[in-house]
Order: sequence, then structure tokens, then C-alpha cells
Amino acid sequence: MASPTTDAPAAGEDVLEAVGLTKHFPVRRRLRGLLSRTRLTVHAVDDVDLTLRRGRVTALVGESGSGKSTVARLLAQLQPLTAGTVRLHGTPVTVRGGRPFRAYVRRVQMIFQDPFASLNPVHTVRYHLTRALRVHGNAGRSSADLEAALAGLLDRVSLTPAERYLDKFPHELSGGQRQRVAIARALGADPEVLLADEPVSMLDVSIRLGVLNLLRDLKERLRLAVLYITHDIASARYFADETLVMYAGRLVEGGDSETVTQHPAHPYTRLLIESAPDPDRITGATRAGDGERGGGEPPSLIRPPAGCRFHPRCPAAMPRCGTDLPPRLAVGDRPGHWAACWLYDPAEATS
Ligand SMILES: Nc1ncnc2c1ncn2[C@@H]1O[C@H](COP(=O)(O)OP(=O)(O)O)[C@@H](O)[C@H]1O
Ligand SMILES: [Mg+2]
Repeated sequence: MASPTTDAPAAGEDVLEAVGLTKHFPVRRRLRGLLSRTRLTVHAVDDVDLTLRRGRVTALVGESGSGKSTVARLLAQLQPLTAGTVRLHGTPVTVRGGRPFRAYVRRVQMIFQDPFASLNPVHTVRYHLTRALRVHGNAGRSSADLEAALAGLLDRVSLTPAERYLDKFPHELSGGQRQRVAIARALGADPEVLLADEPVSMLDVSIRLGVLNLLRDLKERLRLAVLYITHDIASARYFADETLVMYAGRLVEGGDSETVTQHPAHPYTRLLIESAPDPDRITGATRAGDGERGGGEPPSLIRPPAGCRFHPRCPAAMPRCGTDLPPRLAVGDRPGHWAACWLYDPAEATS
């Protein structure tokens, strides 16, 4: 294994890769619907390609309901895929329960939005962390090993001295401390990948930065590959190396975070950034009557729009956008920057 203190060539190495990731949920119908025999599905995630790399943070940005959490659950193998492949170090993974699942979870850990819900209120910090260490075989042989491992985990998330926190219950901690405990628990598996689903959006604004800085520090020190899911594109710029933008189940733009946030190409990304100073506003009153600037509601995922799913809201829509699905097209002169948008079709530019 590469030493975490040297700039080993392994940095940036592909760790977890999704190709054509797709999830359709069947919609339960009432009796009347059953008789009509039409089967409805929610197209939650369609044809998503992404790669998480060692020592890098990849942000997945989009509005609520765009399919971000579903992507995380598929990557975590918590739900079966409708189509596509997940590869860990190039090897396709399809694990359903049992020992292979535990082996996978040891390498790919998830952090959830609400640390209060993900920690058991009747158990102490010591219990949660001990259990994680034991399940993943990292508790050592003696009780001294275990104590050292517990102190090590709390030290990594800057909850020191450990004795101050080990015997506390979740309700005795602040929101930020709870999320740090949830992160420490994930680290108890000694994972390679962290899937962090809106890890700071339930925390007070004043402590968000501290938790993001902690995740960044872990990325660097432990060379973790991190997926950072957020609806706040401004935080992606601050925190992520690469940013992917998701709209209505599909990725619409990607590239390094600086480029995507400073030179957004897709009209949807531009809309997100315009609304960015206060991300909560995206779902608020500004949306109504904002039609010309691309306002309006995200589409139904039961019958998503044909062509580009953003076309009904798009201020730059062309006729073909309503019929033809745009592929990933290279944007500008920054390597790796792409948008799934016909504006960047070289044929459009010359006409
Ligand atoms: N288990 C499920 N059954 C049916 N629909 C689901 C299920 N999970 C998610 N969805 C739907 O999939 C879409 C994407 O949801 P989600 O991945 O949670 O989005 P996000 O995390 O971006 O808010 C939503 O329309 C949601 O209602
Ligand atoms: Mg979500």
C-alpha cells in the first residue's frame, strides 16, 4: 500500500466506477390502475457514468429529487441496479447480502444527512465505534488494542480527548459532534471510499465548514475517494476536486470544480449557480413566475421529457432538444469539461 505521506503514483487512481448506472422504481398502483395494465416506473437514475478516485472528492450536485441519494445507494449496493455496472478496482461487483456484502461495505462506507437518525439513541459513542471496529475486524486482540483504536478514531475526527466523548450518548453531543462520530464509525471499517449524502445540510451553517474541512483532511491523510452529495453548488466549489451536475436522473455537466462553478456550460448549471448564494431559495418563492429565466418545476420522473430532460425549463432550448438526447459534448478548452447539451454540438457552432 502507498504511504500516505508521500506523493505516491496511486493518487488519482480509479477506485469505484459506475457505468450506465440506472434505477427505475415500479410505482404501486391502485386497483383501477392495475386493471389498465400499464406499468408505471419512476426513472430515478438513468445512464449515469462516474468515477471516484483515490484522494479526490467528487461532488454530485442537483436539486432535491434529482436522484442523488439513489446513486449513492446503488454505489453502496444497498439496492439492486436496473441496469449498468459498478466496478471496484476494475472488478464488477454485484453483492446481495452475506459475507460478500460485508467485504464490500468494509471498503465502501456511507455517511448520511442526519447523524441523529443514523446513531442509535440508546447507545454510547463507545458502543457505536466498538461495534464498527469489531464487525470489520479492526478491534485488535486485546482490550488495550480496542482502547487505542477507539482513541485513534476519535482523534481522526478531532474529538479529543477521547475520554470526554466515549461514554456520551448521541443526545449529549452537538449536531456537528454527532456527524463526527458518524464519520468516525465509517472510518472504523478502514474504507477506501466514503459516500457522503448531504453530510452537512442538516448542520448549523456555522459548523458546516468544520465538518467539510475534516472530510477534506481525511481525503488527504487517508487517501479516501469521496463522493460528496449536495444541493449546494457553492460548497462543491469550495470542497470538491471534480463536480458532476445531475438533473432529473441524468448527469448534465461535469469537470473540475473550479471550471464547472466558474464557467458553467449547461443552462441548468447556470440556473443552479444563479440561485446559489442561498441554496434553499431554489425551492422557495423565487421559482414562481421565473419562467423566462428557466424557472419552473423539475419534471415528472414517471414520464420524463423526451430529448434533454431540462428542455421544458431551458431558456436556450432548440427544437432538437425536445426529441434528441444530447450526449456528453466537450466544452471550451478546459480538459475534461463536458456538458450534455446541444449548445456544444460542433455542428451548431458552425451553422
Ligand atoms: N424506494 C423508492 N421507490 C420509489 N421511488 C423512489 C424510491 N426512492 C427514490 N424514489 C424516487 O426517485 C427520485 C429520486 O430520489 P432521490 O434519489 O432520493 O433524489 P435526491 O437524493 O436527489 O433528492 C425521486 O422522484 C424519488 O421520489
Ligand atoms: Mg437525497
